[in-house]
Amino acid sequence: MSGQDLDVPPILATADLSGIAYKETTPINISEKMLKANRIIAGMDSGVEVDAYRKLRTRVLKKMRDKNGNVLAVTSPAPGAGKTLTAINLAISIAMEVDKTVLLIDADLRQSRINKYFNLPATTKGLSDYLTSNLPLNLLLLNPGIGRLIILPGGKPIRNSSEMLSSPKMKRLVDEVKTRYDSRYVIFDLPPVLVSDDAMGFAPHADATLLIAEDSVTNEDELKRSADLLADANLIGTVLNKSREAIEDYYYYLDPVPIGKRSKNQSRLKENQQLFAKFLSRP
Ligand SMILES: Nc1ncnc2c1ncn2[C@@H]1O[C@H](COP(=O)(O)OP(=O)(O)OP(=O)(O)O)[C@@H](O)[C@H]1O
Ligand SMILES: [Mg+2]
Repeated sequence: MSGQDLDVPPILATADLSGIAYKETTPINISEKMLKANRIIAGMDSGVEVDAYRKLRTRVLKKMRDKNGNVLAVTSPAPGAGKTLTAINLAISIAMEVDKTVLLIDADLRQSRINKYFNLPATTKGLSDYLTSNLPLNLLLLNPGIGRLIILPGGKPIRNSSEMLSSPKMKRLVDEVKTRYDSRYVIFDLPPVLVSDDAMGFAPHADATLLIAEDSVTNEDELKRSADLLADANLIGTVLNKSREAIEDYYYYLDPVPIGKRSKNQSRLKENQQLFAKFLSRP
């Protein structure tokens, strides 16, 4: 039984998903309308934006397979670029595939937001509670009933997030979630790289890191500094998010580094991005 104070049926869900038993995850009720209003669209049947996330998924999964890894970190240079929304939509897109299971972890421990995107109470327990107490992980895992997606929210905000994210307990958690189930991907939504040490401290735990840039906002210098700080973080690419470009195929697939060196300005930068995510207008 979950110890969480959630507005959900107080039952244990044992969802047997392709032979993978999610014992004791807590089911949460999620409405499609709410998801759409929050720009969480990757679970929808069709649409140009849905396809965009499918392409992102395909390319990210290929990179992950090449690295023989299953733990992905998502970060950006500055706040607000779209890390959380990209992490959520990407996680859902992967989780909608027949044989893929995804654990989405909110590792922005100063101001976790995944709970907001899923309309969960701010008091919902999560990663910070796990790291600072003896709560077992399974009591904190939520099952929104979207494909094979499981969510670990951020939990109560903590100040020493940087130490927590680079701690041995965090490393053990990554090792545990990595190996606990077959065919499982784990996606960590991190804070921005240039604002605190959190992302840098955590990134070595991940097999791969995706950098989110905001169209017309993130500049070349920020990208370059972030790529330098993430030198040990297996940067697999950059997503140019909120792209308003009316091009048919807005994904480009190029080597991620050195992003800065090859691009002289914002428009050159666009050509050198690996991946684009289209601007999502609200319904
Ligand atoms: N592709 C997109 N199209 C339109 N709006 C977007 C897109 N991606 C994100 N947004 C919007 O931008 C805002 C910031 O997004 P998000 O919370 O994902 O950013 P973040 O990088 O995680 O921010 P923070 O640094 O505060 O954690 C939100 O209002 C979100 O709905
Ligand atoms: Mg965020």
